[in-house]
Amino acid sequence: MNVLSVASEVFPLIKTGGLADVAGALPLALAGNGIRMRTLLPGYPAVMQQLARPRKVATLTSVFGDEMRILSATHAGLDLLILDAPTYFDRTGGPYVDVTGRDYIDNWKRFAALCHAGAEIARGLLPDWTPQVVHAHDWQAAMTPVYMRYTGLERVPNVITVHNLAFQGQFGPEIFPQLGLPPDAFSVEGLEYYGDVGFLKGGLRTAWEVTTVSPTYAQEITTPQYGMGLEGLINARASELVGIVNGIDTSVWDPSTDPHIAANYGPSSLRLRAKNRRALAERFSLINDDGPLFCVVSRLTWQKGIDLIAELADWIVAEGGRLAVLGSGDQGLEGALLAAASRHRGRVGIVIGYDEPLSHLMQAGADAILIPSRFEPCGLTQLYGLRYGCVPIVGRTGGLADTVIDANEAALAARVATGFQFAPVDVEGLRQALRRAFTAFREPKVWARLQNQGMKCDVSWERSAERYAKLYSSLLARV
Ligand code: ADP
Ligand code: GLC
Repeated sequence: MNVLSVASEVFPLIKTGGLADVAGALPLALAGNGIRMRTLLPGYPAVMQQLARPRKVATLTSVFGDEMRILSATHAGLDLLILDAPTYFDRTGGPYVDVTGRDYIDNWKRFAALCHAGAEIARGLLPDWTPQVVHAHDWQAAMTPVYMRYTGLERVPNVITVHNLAFQGQFGPEIFPQLGLPPDAFSVEGLEYYGDVGFLKGGLRTAWEVTTVSPTYAQEITTPQYGMGLEGLINARASELVGIVNGIDTSVWDPSTDPHIAANYGPSSLRLRAKNRRALAERFSLINDDGPLFCVVSRLTWQKGIDLIAELADWIVAEGGRLAVLGSGDQGLEGALLAAASRHRGRVGIVIGYDEPLSHLMQAGADAILIPSRFEPCGLTQLYGLRYGCVPIVGRTGGLADTVIDANEAALAARVATGFQFAPVDVEGLRQALRRAFTAFREPKVWARLQNQGMKCDVSWERSAERYAKLYSSLLARV
């Protein structure tokens, strides 16, 4: 089966978060299910520079009148279609924001162009390959099903996956006439969203099927607390909404072969982690001692509950813990963590920035990873933690609730616990979870068991890839 994936970031070419990991790993996992997935992504400079021998396979005119090219290339086992449109994508800065961190003002144009290209590929733009199913990810790709619906491709099955409902791609109504869509697309049945143009809203309304990245998040987003204003629409589509939990690329994330860590290890050689622990402490200028070393690898935002960690930093240190934080994001949160680090030199360390190799060392060297998210569609760092024996301490929400087994009495007795969950997600909730972790950490056998049980979990893509494959087949069967 031929499936076109449309995504705005794909690991290892370009990544700002978990979406890239998923878009980069799912095609490889699907290959074993008889699916040829090609991925359409924008030709950002970072992408163009890494491509070896890209081949032009088509040209098209965007809805805005520019000439664009589709290049075909393979990279890291991925079968890629690159939208080469320098007007939109050849920019300094990130995929969505300029060098000063502000959203590009023409993001709506940039991603409408991407989605329009996706729809044209579904129409048969490429001479030798046409997808049978189209899979769009998040708001940046959400206009793909909209273009398909309103340009005569309503018979081609498509699915949209929501990785995070907090980012919706909402723009003023004045852009609508430029999108090249018929007037009836600006209605509640299409793009119209409280008088604005809603890219994600349109995708959720028009796609054949909606998925999100964990069963719990699929349920949560039907409620006002998590639905971000879209809960009405999501409820209306509840029978076509399914939660499929993310896996991880277990060859990229494998402590026994990981090139980014100080010592490779496996479940039967956990003691070798000590070397990574020392390397991590050194990297963050932390003292070496026997207390637990907690880490954070995250966007520093309200969603991720980073303020709770900043508030508890003094207490963690007073209890004999250490804290290593890698991340960037809100300036206020960065400032609060930097202040904690300067109050507690040798006990709290922070690296502001994005550092893929260091993120591996953190999972390999820290005793536990803190993920006190207020909402978390899936979350990947707890899965990396499980695989690396870095015990996850997580808010009980979304994919965190679905992938970590809380170390309560019953789970400990049954030897199935893999981490710590807490709710409600607030300072006292996190403090209680940390208290339990401190206690467990004082009993090396209990802690080692948690690590081992975590390392035994199946965090691969295998089961979830099969579910996506079944979903595509069921859509095709409806044609
Ligand atoms: P989200 O996509 O909401 O940010 P996920 O947990 O799904 O959350 O994915 C985050 C991904 O980004 C993980 O692969 C994580 O390791 C990585 N990551 C986050 N912050 C950093 C950072 N500062 N440096 C390196 N990797 C990071
Ligand atoms: C989003 C979510 C995160 C999820 C990732 C990949 O960025 O915030 O929870 O793991 O997408 O699906």
